[in-house]
Amino acid sequence: MKIGILISGRGSNMVAIVDGVQSGLIPDSEVVAVISDKTSAEGLIKAKECEIETLIVTRKGRTRGEHDAEIISELKKRNVELVCLAGYMRLLSKDFVRAFPNRIINIHPSLLPSFKGLEAQRQAIEYGVKVSGCTVHFVDESLDNGAIIAQKVVEVKDDDTPETLSARILEYEHTLYVDSVKLIVEGNYQVNGRRVTAAVKNYQNKQDV
Ligand code: GRF
Repeated sequence: MKIGILISGRGSNMVAIVDGVQSGLIPDSEVVAVISDKTSAEGLIKAKECEIETLIVTRKGRTRGEHDAEIISELKKRNVELVCLAGYMRLLSKDFVRAFPNRIINIHPSLLPSFKGLEAQRQAIEYGVKVSGCTVHFVDESLDNGAIIAQKVVEVKDDDTPETLSARILEYEHTLYVDSVKLIVEGNYQVNGRRVTAAVKNYQNKQDV
């Protein structure tokens, strides 16, 4: 499956997916492009080191629709079948979501539907929850809202800061994202409305919480 990855920053999840593909853990796939909306995204350098084509598509004062149209066109030109958002900091337009039905996924550093949006780890600490984690989900037009593919629970410790909790969650994000991409590539799941079923359950049962 041809995969396109959208980033805005560091790109550690992007690298995890690229490694998963290049090592064969994610079978029969190729990351054909890494697209950033930010010229300064560190992930661009990492993608080049992995010999992946990179593109910068900045917003340049355009509407969301116009900006998305250019990204859609670059993805379609490369026959991308799965779009992975990996720290991509913009909400997608309706047209973008419709261009890749059930083929856009995202990772978020909380147990959705809790703590959507920015600084999810800080939100979790401030709320006082004892566990948080990360979620891979399909993307729809609302922020951090689509059907959940997989989640991993991570303990929130009494002395956690947003930085320590983010670092602990990030360790699990990489494997959760790679396993979720593998699941999609292998077609080993079903979507019924909001419920994504099949191998996801097996996946979660294998995890030690
Ligand atoms: C991750 O915490 C991810 O869950 C969130 O943004 C962060 C991106 O980190 N959506 P990276 O760019 O993948 O290192």
